[in-house]
Amino acid sequence: MTLSRFPGSPSSTPLGIPITKVTMPALAEMKREGKPISALTAYDYSSSRLADEAGIDLILVGDSLAMVVLGHENTLAVTVDEMLHHTRAVRRAVRRALLVADMPFGSYHGTVAEGLANAIRFVKEAGAEAVKIEGPRPDLVRALTEAEIPVVGHLGLTPQSLHRMGGYRVQARTAETVLQLKADAHAVADAGAGALVLEGIPREVAAVLTAELTISTIGIGAGPDCDGQILVFHDLLNLTFAPAAKFVRRYGDAGALIRSAIEHYREDVERRAFPSDEESYHLPEEERRALDALQKPGALRKA
Ligand code: KIV
Repeated sequence: MTLSRFPGSPSSTPLGIPITKVTMPALAEMKREGKPISALTAYDYSSSRLADEAGIDLILVGDSLAMVVLGHENTLAVTVDEMLHHTRAVRRAVRRALLVADMPFGSYHGTVAEGLANAIRFVKEAGAEAVKIEGPRPDLVRALTEAEIPVVGHLGLTPQSLHRMGGYRVQARTAETVLQLKADAHAVADAGAGALVLEGIPREVAAVLTAELTISTIGIGAGPDCDGQILVFHDLLNLTFAPAAKFVRRYGDAGALIRSAIEHYREDVERRAFPSDEESYHLPEEERRALDALQKPGALRKA
């Protein structure tokens, strides 16, 4: 018998948020209604379940996991198989949010056919409901859309272009590059993308794009005028080990909480204060007496 992870399948989360499935069309509807979209990255079962229960609309299994979970220096090293592994874990937890998987560097930079084959793996093998790809790739966006795979585009500061950009630099800061970004955004939207992440661009540029596009913009370091916002889970909770970027707001200090809880546990083990008698299992009284009797000198020989 398998026990349900969601006993009783309630119709609302523990925080009382109705479990009405967020879909790609629902994101478009939210834009039309002027309802802000909340998005967050997550990489494993427990964190994504917490995010889903808190009512986050879109959960992205971001390739940022290369850095915040796997400890790489940038996002380039993470593989399709690693991303699939984490997406499956998140899939097991998420009931309400739209589940988007990030296509990692190298998985869509060759032919459109290769990109399509890798995207299909995210839907088929890991249960993603959409994939995210960085950069202006309208041909790929069109092919994925025709293959029934919803696409989230990602323009501006695209971390997979780290080496071309010469570092993590705010993009579209000149009139010429703003025009290029606008053309790219329209091309991605016209090719069928359902939403567009805008990262590391001036607020004014994000505001213009948000007003011009019919698809939802989701900002990270792009100011408050986007249709939605996304943060990296570990940034939001101070679970990182580097200074935060300007756009990060810490909503909690899980790093301090975890460090102090673990330190407390270590101290308790060292002074033999953990576990207590109440935290231990006990032999039933009669078995204890039987054991005492068996252990009396000569008891076993007599028997
Ligand atoms: O990988 C990631 O976390 C992302 C978000 C920052 C948008 O791409």
